[in-house]
Amino acid sequence: MESKRAAAEKAVEYIRNGMIIGLGTGSTAYWAIQKLGINIKDGLRVKAVATSIHTENLAKELKIPLISISEIEEIDITVDGADEVDDEWNLIKGGGGAHLREKIVASMSKELIIVVDESKKVNRLGKFPLPVEIVIFNYENTQKKLSTLGCVPQLRIRDNKPFLTDNGNYIVDCDFGSIGQPRELHTAINSIPGVVENGLFIKMATKVIIGYQDGSVKEQ
Ligand code: A5P
Repeated sequence: MESKRAAAEKAVEYIRNGMIIGLGTGSTAYWAIQKLGINIKDGLRVKAVATSIHTENLAKELKIPLISISEIEEIDITVDGADEVDDEWNLIKGGGGAHLREKIVASMSKELIIVVDESKKVNRLGKFPLPVEIVIFNYENTQKKLSTLGCVPQLRIRDNKPFLTDNGNYIVDCDFGSIGQPRELHTAINSIPGVVENGLFIKMATKVIIGYQDGSVKEQ
């Protein structure tokens, strides 16, 4: 917990008056949102967009001013977590099922600061099964198509039923093993009809902050 919090709070130091902020989703982004809430209470003036309904509710509780993403064209800084970060700052995201909105928000952000604990840093992506959001229509065949790309697809189940994203879709967790060519894989997956978005974020991060158990951080 201390490692996630340390990384997240470091990222919040980059947030200045007047900025539009993207709020990530997950247990690390949680700490950034908490700290931002404190800073706003202390007088910081920003507006924020959320990457999930969960984050939106948290921001409302903390009285962080929210704006609709359709009202803006650009976001100054987004702070978000990741499930894996490789040496080139490519990411796997979507462990919480929020990667579609996270990617849309990231794509509008001048800066994407990724906050992780040390366990998320890998040389090569792929130990964490890649989350892929797919539409419900014909999902069995979409899964079969995904398997032809070399993975073992697993429909995500929660409470004995398929997990539903904020967008009303399913998630398939795809174990590809070690991913040698993330950019090519990203394109191949998103070319399958029925796939909405996969959790590979290729060269989108502009900064990575790694937190450690002792509360120290390393910025890259
Ligand atoms: C949400 O779907 C994800 O992309 C999260 O950002 C990612 O899973 C990291 O979450 P934690 O910070 O909880 O590990």
